[in-house]
Formats: sequence, structure tokens, C-alpha cells
Amino acid sequence: MAEELIPETPESPEMPETPEEAEQPIKQRKNSLYPGVSDELAENMTTGWADTELRELEPIAQASHTAARRALLSARFPGERLVIPAGRLKTRSNDTEYAFRASTEYAYLTGDQSEDGVLVLEPNGGEHGGGHRATVYLLPRSNRENGEFWLSGQGELWVGRRHSLTEAEQLLGIPAKDVRELPEQLSGATGPVRAVRGHDAVIEAALTDKVTAERDEELRVYLSEARAVKDEFEIGELQQACDSTARGFEDVVRVLDKAEATSERYIEGTFFLRARVEGNDIGYGSICAAGPHATTLHWVRNDGPVRSGELLLLDAGVETRTLYTADITRTLPINGRFNEIQRKIYDAVYESQEAGIAAVKPGAKYRDFHDASQRVLAEKLVEWGLVDGPVERVLELGLQRRWTLHGTGHMLGMDVHDCAAARTEAYVDGTLEPGVCLTVEPGLYFQADDLTVPEEYRGIGVRIEDDILVTEDGNRNLSAALPRQADEVEAWMASLKA
Ligand code: GLY
Ligand code: MN
Ligand code: MN
Repeated sequence: MAEELIPETPESPEMPETPEEAEQPIKQRKNSLYPGVSDELAENMTTGWADTELRELEPIAQASHTAARRALLSARFPGERLVIPAGRLKTRSNDTEYAFRASTEYAYLTGDQSEDGVLVLEPNGGEHGGGHRATVYLLPRSNRENGEFWLSGQGELWVGRRHSLTEAEQLLGIPAKDVRELPEQLSGATGPVRAVRGHDAVIEAALTDKVTAERDEELRVYLSEARAVKDEFEIGELQQACDSTARGFEDVVRVLDKAEATSERYIEGTFFLRARVEGNDIGYGSICAAGPHATTLHWVRNDGPVRSGELLLLDAGVETRTLYTADITRTLPINGRFNEIQRKIYDAVYESQEAGIAAVKPGAKYRDFHDASQRVLAEKLVEWGLVDGPVERVLELGLQRRWTLHGTGHMLGMDVHDCAAARTEAYVDGTLEPGVCLTVEPGLYFQADDLTVPEEYRGIGVRIEDDILVTEDGNRNLSAALPRQADEVEAWMASLKA
């Protein structure tokens, strides 16, 4: 970074730390002399700025949904103060930070994604009939009188314009206050408090003697389980995530020759471009696994060669601007045609996935789709002579798992592994209902050094993953835009390369 692109007093001790300090004009504050800044420049920078306040803003599209979510949360924890932070920037190196992504819990309940934001639900007294008052605490616009605007690393001149508190109130439908007031307010708060942990050390420090790990965990579990059934807005976002992801997969197929000339990184970069242009980001590290790398479940190094005649396992998802992600895998013949052994393994996984998807319907046990998929894979492994049957014995002892490796799917939403804190009885031992969205993603993986399988299997990994919404009468495949059946995959690839 060039010298002139560093704020002259980044996070300097002279910068105001409380709202009261921030109100004081530059010259009245202690240590008011900024190194290298003349009084005249300091004075000059305080004036000559237009009023850019935005007025009469429409609420964000999900505002009525976030209000409904807060109402359910309020009903679950009556009389308790609830604190849900968005999180803070994390240092990557020296004075650069990782890209910020608001906590799922905060974004789910507010629709906002501001760093340092905190949602607080404060209980109404009994005389008001219970319930909570929601307030979102945010960094306000930068003060132009005291140098914060142009001299602080968090100043809007450096990081871009923020919404004013009044604008945020209109957009989110939640009263907004200055977050710099919050730690002191929380320290002085009385009554029961619960907080979502792990996102904001400053807020947690202010609450240390007021919260317990056990009670906070109950809040986290509630917010995880509350997200299992998606509302109309969320279903629309998940569909958009899948549609963008399908376009990203098409982009990749179009540039496979360039990937062959370089590496798996070309695939990663190509998909990322689609994710950033149409969405917020990728929802998780893209797995761009060519050849034997496909047998490594979380291959995200993506630095290997891409060779004609081998398979590419691409597991990637676009995260929308409201933070809903797809999670899709296709295993593609790099030269456009499966060879015999590749197709044999691919067809087995496809058949397994078909059985799994058919088991996704309201009233089914969550485990049903996993059991259906695994049974097909066990049957194939016995049929191919890789493991001694009968199939019941294989399933009972889990012997297929040497090659199936992972569960057949998971909930999907704002987190790729959504609802991960849900209790077992509410998740894997639960029952599917309309609005639940999950992945069905069986795979077979034959490691390159697996001496228990014939040589021709070694180094082949196949996974097919789709995003399935439970509907009133069955399911809908949100990722159906991407073909799965082998002939259709080949025809689709040929059409994109033509
Ligand atoms: N991409 C991670 C998974 O499929 O679960
Ligand atoms: Mn998945
Ligand atoms: Mn995946």
C-alpha cells in the first residue's frame, strides 16, 4: 500500500472514543494536534460538505420477515435482554482486514450486514404486557467536525459512506442508536441477559458477569432451529443462489481449455467472478478438484493440473447479497465425455442421488434420504465385488463408508451447513416439513493409493449435489437448471463449448 494511502493517524489515541468526546470540536480535545496536519487544513476539512441525508426510504424487502423472526424470538425468551452482534473486522495482516461477513444470527434477525452492528431486544416491563423493544446499534455517519471523517481508519472517507441512524431505521424498520454507547449501557444493565457469542469481543467483555455459557447456548440453539423452515423470502433467495451458481458452472465449462493450460485455480477464479458480480461472495471455499483431487473431500488448495481424460469435481455455491448460499456439486468429464469406468461410477452415484431425492418429502424422517442413498451405493459396491455382501451386512457394519466417506446431506440456508447448532431431535432425528431446504449429495471416492480396489477405480471421485426444498406435496430441486444424468451432462457441456 502506498504511503499516501494510509490514514495519517490510523486508530490514533487522539481519535474520539466515546460519543461525548466525538462531539467536541478538534481544538478542544486533548492532543488535538494531528501530526502533519496544519490547523488551517484541519479547519478546512470540517466545512464545505453537502447534506446527503437520504429521506423517505422504503424498507428492505425482508423487513416484514425479520420482524416476524424477532417476534418469535421475543416470545421464546420473555423478560430477558437478548444481544445479537454482527461481529467485527478481523485482521488479515498488519492494517488489512478479511472481507467482513455479518454473523448469520444478526443478518437473519435484522436484514442488516454492518460491521460492529448489534441487535438488542430489551424486555418491556410487565405493565406493557411483556414482549421486547428491538434496537439496532450501529456506527453512525462519521463526524466531520472532529477529524473522524478523514483521519480515522473507520472514517467514511476511507471505508465509504454508511447509512445514518435515521436512514437505517427506515430501511430495517428497527429504531437505531449509536453502537459506541452500547458497551457502557450493557455493563450497567440489570436483569437476565443472553448473548450470541463468538462474534464481538467488546460486547462480550461488557457482559462477562451477566451471562452464562449454558444460557447463551440455548439462545444459539434456538436461532439455529428457528432457521430450519424457510419463509417465502428465503426460498426466493435460495433459488437465486442456485440460479447464479448454475451460471457459474456454465462459465467454468466454457473455460476448461484455459484451466487445462493453467490449473484448477482458473476454475476457482472463474466461479468467483460470477459469485462477486451476481452475489455477495462464494458461500464457502470452492472445491475445484481435478483428477485424483476429487477424492479429497475438502480440496480447496485448487493448485493442481486439469487434464483431459480425467474428471473435474466442482463443489461451489454463490452466496446472494442477502447471504443465502447454494451448495452444488457436479462431476464433469474434462474432455466432455465420460469413459467407461468413469460412467459406471457416475451412474451409480446418480442412481443413489435419485433414490435420496425421492425420499425427501413432508412427513419423512430426516434420515430417510441418507438411508436410501447409502443403500444404493452399498448395493453397487457389493455388485462390483469390492466388499462382501449381503447388502444388509454392509450397511449394518457401515463397510461402504470406506468409499462413501460422508453423510448424504445437510440443511442449507444462510450457512452452507445451516442450523448446525440444532439439537439432534430437531435435526437428524427430526421429520421433514415444507420449507426445509437440504442438500442431497452422495459420492463415491476411490483413493489413488487404495489397494483394495482394482487399479482402474483408483483416483476417481464422484459426487453429485443438489439443493432440495421440501414442498407441501414432495420436493422441488432448486438446482435443477444443471443437468445430472450422464448423457445430459455430456450434451450440456457440448452445447456450451460449441
Ligand atoms: N461444500 C460442502 C458440502 O458439500 O457440504
Ligand atoms: Mn453440501
Ligand atoms: Mn458441497
